[in-house]
This record gives sequence, C-alpha cells and structure tokens, in this order.
Amino acid sequence: MEQRSLTRFGNVAQAFHWLTAILVLLAFVFGPEGSEQRVYLPAGDFERQLHETLGLCVLALAVLRLLWRMLDRRPEPEPLARWMELSSKAVQVALYGLLFAVPLTAITGAWLEGHPLTLLGGLQIASLIGLSHGIGVTIAEIHAWLGDAILWLAGLHAAAAIYHHLVLKDGVLLSMLPRWVPLGKLTATR
Ligand code: HEM
Repeated sequence: MEQRSLTRFGNVAQAFHWLTAILVLLAFVFGPEGSEQRVYLPAGDFERQLHETLGLCVLALAVLRLLWRMLDRRPEPEPLARWMELSSKAVQVALYGLLFAVPLTAITGAWLEGHPLTLLGGLQIASLIGLSHGIGVTIAEIHAWLGDAILWLAGLHAAAAIYHHLVLKDGVLLSMLPRWVPLGKLTATR
C-alpha cells in the first residue's frame, strides 16, 4: 500500500486536479464565440473540434476524479474559521457541479440544435436526443454563461489558495502541490 504523508493530496488526486485546471483553461481559450451560425461556420471547424474534444476530456476526468475521490485518502483539513471552512466547501462543490454542468449543457444544446459533436480526428457523435431547436439555443447560451462562471469561480478559488499560503501561512496550497515544487515545506505530519 502506498505510504504518503497525510498533509498532501495523493499524486493521482493532484494529477486529476492540475490536468482538469489546464484543460478547463484551454477549453475556455479555444471556446468559439458568437451566434450558432458563426460557431458552425466551416472556417471555425478546427477550433470547435478542439473545444469539444477538451470539453469531453473535462467531463471524463470529472467522472474518474470523483470515483477516485471515493477510494483515496485525503489530507487532514487545516483548522479554519467556520465561515472559511463552509465557503471553501461551497466553492469546491460548485466547481465539481460546474465540471459536469458545463460539458453536459454543451452536449445537450448542440444535440437539440441538431448538430453532432465533432471531435479532433474527424470523429462525430450524432445526436442521441430529439430536435428542439429553440430550447437547444437557450441551453447553448446557458453553457456559455456557465463556462464564464467556472473560470471566475476557479479564479476565486485560486486566489483563496494563494491567500492561505501567503497570509495564513498554512499548508492548504502545498497540499495540492507535488513535493518537487519549491514553495516551502510541510512540516506537520498529522
Ligand atoms: C479551472 C481550475 C480549477 C478547478 C476546476 C479546481 C477545482 C478544485 C476542486 C473541485 C477541488 C476539491 C478537491 C477535492 O477535495 O476533491 C480543488 C482543491 C484545491 N485546489 Fe483547485 N481548481 C482549479 C484551479 C486551482 C488553482 C489555480 C489553484 C492554486 C493556485 C488551486 C488550488 C487548490 C487547492 C490548494 C485545493 C485543496 C483545497 C483544500 O483541501 O481545502 N486550484 N480544486
């Protein structure tokens, strides 16, 4: 059985965390913008395929990560003020929720609008649900809002992690970083 300090998340949990963060950021950067007509112009095919592929990877990672979380050991939580503990839990639950809601609204919106999912390498996944164009457009708009929301929330979450490290000087940020990142040492082994 793997031996590791209880002050940090395990290697697999950390890998899931940072890979998710990178993929969410890339999916945002390569997100097609504008009306449905614009998004589905042939000139935007590559960017849209890249965005959809990244989005499906985020969804697959979220599923695997939650399954892994059920099996994995977690570091002992830092002793925090009650409001901080509750708000950090709420942000984490919201982030997990958005990791599912963002790709699922994209898939539902595209399918209801009558578009297959188009992935890198020319792979297409045809709609598995009926056509309802108006509802599809609305859900696609909700997807765009949620896509912005996950970035804002992740920014807040990252700022909180940095605040923990620089101001509270506790081990919260280090708990999600591999040992080789030269940011400081975790001394306590709770
Ligand atoms: C899109 C970007 C991100 C997403 C979606 C995300 C999501 C999450 C989620 C869902 C957790 C809870 C993990 C669990 O308990 O299973 C978490 C924990 C954590 N994240 Fe992020 N994160 C992102 C970016 C960042 C960044 C940029 C930082 C640091 C600057 C960061 C630092 C942390 C830390 C320190 C924890 C552990 C918090 C604790 O145990 O209280 N995250 N993150």
